[in-house]
Amino acid sequence: MRNEEHILAIDLGTTKVCAVVARVLAGDELETIGVGTHPSEGLQNGTVVDLERTTRSIESAAQKALATAGVDIRKAWIGIAASFIQSYNSRGSVAVLQGQRGITKADMKSAIRAAVDMKIPPEMKVLHQIPRWFRVDDVTGVRDPEGMVGNLLEVDLHVVGGRKNDIANIERAVHAAGFRAEGMMLQPIASSLSVLSDDEMDAGVAMIDIGGGTTDIAIYKEGQIIASKVVLIGGDLITKDIASYFAAPSEHAETLKKTFGSAIVTPGDENEMIEIQRIRNRPSKEAPRSELNFVIEARVEQIIQQVERTIVAALPLEELVAGIVLTGGTSMLSGLTEKFQSELRLETHLGIPGGVTGFTDIVKSPTCSTAIGMLLYALAERRRREEEDGNAFQAMFRRLGTMIGNYF
Ligand SMILES: Nc1ncnc2c1ncn2[C@@H]1O[C@H](COP(=O)(O)OP(=O)(O)OP(=O)(O)O)[C@@H](O)[C@H]1O
Ligand SMILES: [Mg+2]
Repeated sequence: MRNEEHILAIDLGTTKVCAVVARVLAGDELETIGVGTHPSEGLQNGTVVDLERTTRSIESAAQKALATAGVDIRKAWIGIAASFIQSYNSRGSVAVLQGQRGITKADMKSAIRAAVDMKIPPEMKVLHQIPRWFRVDDVTGVRDPEGMVGNLLEVDLHVVGGRKNDIANIERAVHAAGFRAEGMMLQPIASSLSVLSDDEMDAGVAMIDIGGGTTDIAIYKEGQIIASKVVLIGGDLITKDIASYFAAPSEHAETLKKTFGSAIVTPGDENEMIEIQRIRNRPSKEAPRSELNFVIEARVEQIIQQVERTIVAALPLEELVAGIVLTGGTSMLSGLTEKFQSELRLETHLGIPGGVTGFTDIVKSPTCSTAIGMLLYALAERRRREEEDGNAFQAMFRRLGTMIGNYF
């Protein structure tokens, strides 16, 4: 009997490390059988600043997930997003040596290498190289040029790279925690896989994962990734704003945000008084709810401006026919979808992760979008590595096929 197959995904978020174990069922369905989280300690905005504490966070989250699952896995997929990550679109072309025989995978690989070399400096390591389209002589928009006859092959590539040293530090922590990194992936690309549908990616959509420390953005049009970006601003700043505005302890500020907070100030808020605890034995006081929501709204507007800037740099807003899909812990902030919708005039939905079964109440939370997307990505990438025939793979996972890094 074939051994059971499992996948371990570890998402290194800025507030929590989230580990998920899935069992691969017949037909490549994924069933979540273990989840474990641990506060992200030792990482600052996704960069390792304390190796030992990072190691402990990874170890603790992963061990919890493995213990619940009742399995022991020593290789893991790691999801990262940090200031040391950069995404680019780049083009590369090659002359096809034996053009009349048809373009080969080796030609495609050379074109991709040329596009990578154009943009990625030597101190960067490539995490994803996603071909958006190929051009064969004058024919543009080719998805799979293999076998086509032509003299010049060009590729338009989305490349994601990170500073080698920062990636190596994450690998060290993973290793010290007892795991081998089976692969690494960018969090916004992973989240997209669990919350977006093929139709949305075709129509034009922006996936916005607002976590604690970062806002991860991935933009798609015509089924292809147009841009990905990690912005260093997130829900924890909202909590900080509340804490400093009211001189409240940060744990209480977090509770206020989640219980009474809203991204929109509504007229009734002025008359609703809430009790605010203060730091260092200052007497607690009452404040109208509108004051809390003004503080929140100001920071949310700044986040929306950053999102808008990223979208506009990639394509005109109106091309996002499927609008915006919000996910990540901060997407649970009351009024946030409405605020995005009114500020950007784009239809906005909440993205709950899908595509896996098991533990549904836990993993169907927007805080788990990245980890769930990582499982989907990991399985597809594993199959691609196993598959000799990449085409069969692509037919099986149309969307994933185009998203997988290290394409060959
Ligand atoms: N109900 C809620 N209302 C408002 N904010 C919430 C709610 N629940 C969680 N959050 C916020 O979500 C954030 C954490 O989100 P998430 O777990 O997605 O972050 P992360 O993945 O660790 O971080 P990142 O993706 O930035 O690296 C925190 O700022 C938290 O305050
Ligand atoms: Mg996250």
